[in-house]
Amino acid sequence: MRHFNYKNGELYAENVPVREIAEKVGTPTYVYSAATLQHHFKALQAALGDLNVKIAFAVKSNTNSAVIATLAALGAGADTVSEGEIRRAIRAGVAPEKIVFSGVGKTVRELEYAVSQNIHQINIESIQELETLSEVATRLGKIQKIVFRVNPDVAAGGHDKISTGKKTSKFGISKERAFELYARAETLNGVEPVGLAVHIGSQIIDLAPLKQAYEFLAQMVKDLRANGHKVSRLDLGGGLAAIYQEEIEGPDLIAWGKIVRAIIHPLDVEIEIEPGRIITANAGILLARSIVTKENGGRDFVVLDAAMNDLVRPAFYEAYHQLLAVKEPVKGTNKMPTTIVGPICETGDTFAVDRLMEPVAPDELVAFMSAGAYGFSMASNYNSRPLAAEVMVNGDKWEIVRPRQTYDEIFGMEKIPDWK
Ligand code: LLP
Repeated sequence: MRHFNYKNGELYAENVPVREIAEKVGTPTYVYSAATLQHHFKALQAALGDLNVKIAFAVKSNTNSAVIATLAALGAGADTVSEGEIRRAIRAGVAPEKIVFSGVGKTVRELEYAVSQNIHQINIESIQELETLSEVATRLGKIQKIVFRVNPDVAAGGHDKISTGKKTSKFGISKERAFELYARAETLNGVEPVGLAVHIGSQIIDLAPLKQAYEFLAQMVKDLRANGHKVSRLDLGGGLAAIYQEEIEGPDLIAWGKIVRAIIHPLDVEIEIEPGRIITANAGILLARSIVTKENGGRDFVVLDAAMNDLVRPAFYEAYHQLLAVKEPVKGTNKMPTTIVGPICETGDTFAVDRLMEPVAPDELVAFMSAGAYGFSMASNYNSRPLAAEVMVNGDKWEIVRPRQTYDEIFGMEKIPDWK
């Protein structure tokens, strides 16, 4: 579900024609819909019914403070993977006691910052990290609640690059080692082990691997308890897929809620999840303008002013993003195979190859759909291109929630050494 639709022949974000935004702010520009964010957050809550589940929004999927604040206002916490993300989440209004710190390599400085902020939980991924955290927290006079991210050896997700649950991946800790670390943690100062976490991948449509990972967790809880350990919390990670193509159905959220209820609820633990994409993907679009069209070797190209530095998912994961013309095409217009590219000096800067679509003329506005997750948050300055502007729409109101980067912000801090 998304609040980006054609009305009177023009693409709207909620009640705002996106052309108005493009004309005032320029392109490329990300446009987020507050109503769509709220809808997806509430759909997750509805699927979980009366189960008491804490939702820690995976900030990496969309880092904009306005997005985080919109979700925080609905009660969301934050799943973070760096000091920067923790700082962002707190700045956007997420209470530290709702912040989870995940990630496979946290520096001492990051651990110090997290502990000093009294965050809800740190997800531990190695023995070294456990021992460092114990030292850091002891030094700061704190006791940090931790869970161990276990690796269930279950493959899942929309692409190899975003599958994290296989035993040979860099993520998590094997079952055997997790038992050792749990026992070890109970002997250490500064840390209190309270449970386990999993995260097996992203863009997961098929619920079977998630179910398998949850069953793995449930068995571990029983085994840990049988050995006298206290387990009071489970973090089920993120990974639920968003719909990028109407023809491909998304995960059945109600069925997923039932799986959580059947497998996790009977364990009498606090339950947490870390969803990102399912909340943000369809709440954002990337507005772009065509610069030129050209034909080469029998292939028709449209060159946009947006590039792989703005939206890297097609280049990096062969990801599909629907592309719509902002002016609704007249029904019955012939579709042509069209290759959509950006202006960056790499063949990889390609959004779609030979996609069947209505012709795009030069200087025409287009929109990449479902670009709210891992869009702006993965953007870069490659080719010295400024980071795109970000706008949020709420009903008939809209605001720039991050202006387009200036050239001075890109290279103004650089220095040319005067070696003499
Ligand atoms: N929790 C952990 C520990 C994670 O590593 C991730 C995502 C999430 C939660 C949120 O997953 P989600 O619900 O969004 O699937 N850049 C890639 C996706 C990378 C996902 C990384 N981890 C893409 O554009 O497809």
